Amino acid sequence: MGLLREVYYALPPSLRFVARRVYYFPVDLYEGIAGKRGEMIPPRGMIFIGAGDFRTQGLHILDLLKRYAGLTPGSRVLDVGCGIGRLAVALTGYLDDKGSYEGFDIVRKGIDWCEKKISSNYPRFRFKHIDLKNDLYNLSTEEEAKHFVFPYAENSFDCVVLTSVFTHMMPEDVDNYLGQIASVMKKEGKCLATFFLINPEIKERMVAGNTQFNFKHTFEGYSLMDKKVKEANIAFDEEYLQALIRKNGMQIDSVHYGRWSYSPDALDFQDVMIISKKE
Ligand SMILES: C[S@@+](CC[C@H](N)C(=O)[O-])C[C@H]1O[C@@H](n2cnc3c(N)ncnc32)[C@H](O)[C@@H]1O
Repeated sequence: MGLLREVYYALPPSLRFVARRVYYFPVDLYEGIAGKRGEMIPPRGMIFIGAGDFRTQGLHILDLLKRYAGLTPGSRVLDVGCGIGRLAVALTGYLDDKGSYEGFDIVRKGIDWCEKKISSNYPRFRFKHIDLKNDLYNLSTEEEAKHFVFPYAENSFDCVVLTSVFTHMMPEDVDNYLGQIASVMKKEGKCLATFFLINPEIKERMVAGNTQFNFKHTFEGYSLMDKKVKEANIAFDEEYLQALIRKNGMQIDSVHYGRWSYSPDALDFQDVMIISKKE
């Protein structure tokens, strides 16, 4: 792991937020004054969900959902771990009056932003803050994701999406979320979720130093990049994850290995999985 990343992860979430705000202050000030930011686009210092251009990345996820998860303008979408609205902003230009969007996240600042900047203009876009512990994102509670019951009706979503969320959740939490997704997704619905997957071939490449990330702390079914901040980045053994998905009444339609392991035909930096309910 790079030194900078290690230092950054070592900071508690509140300090990381301040560090980012300070670092990006000059450019955020300039872009704000020059009117270079759209109304729904957060200042860079507030974007706690990863690198890359906010708008471009949002459109990229939208494109994946259309191509691989059957998204149409009339879809009912659930965005689990919606962050600060990266996908939601892209979807405001795509979903029509029949479509709707629900997003939830454990970081209050992200949800506050989305409610203020998105829901106020797009009432069919609804956001919820759920206070759950995550050692990278939220230390303000002891509530655990493994017990959380999604607050939505059964069989109500056409499309469930988790981009770079299961890469920050421990196995028993992922197990619960898969069960919750199976419950709230319609019978013919699709779930697009990204992971870091380890199989024998990828492991060989990783051990030889031929991957962009290295998950060197190995446990039963999963590996961590950083032992101190476990949820900073988690990779799953592919077979272990397949068993979890099956156990929760779902099946894998396709897997697209990502750029992190230099896989050919990658759709994304992370591995993309399309999951549906068992027939
Ligand atoms: C890398 S960010 C990705 C955000 C968003 N999906 C995107 O692509 O822009 C990971 C997100 O997962 C959220 N998260 C972590 N654990 C969660 C949990 N148990 N339930 C819901 N969200 C969670 C974090 O708060 C953070 O917003």
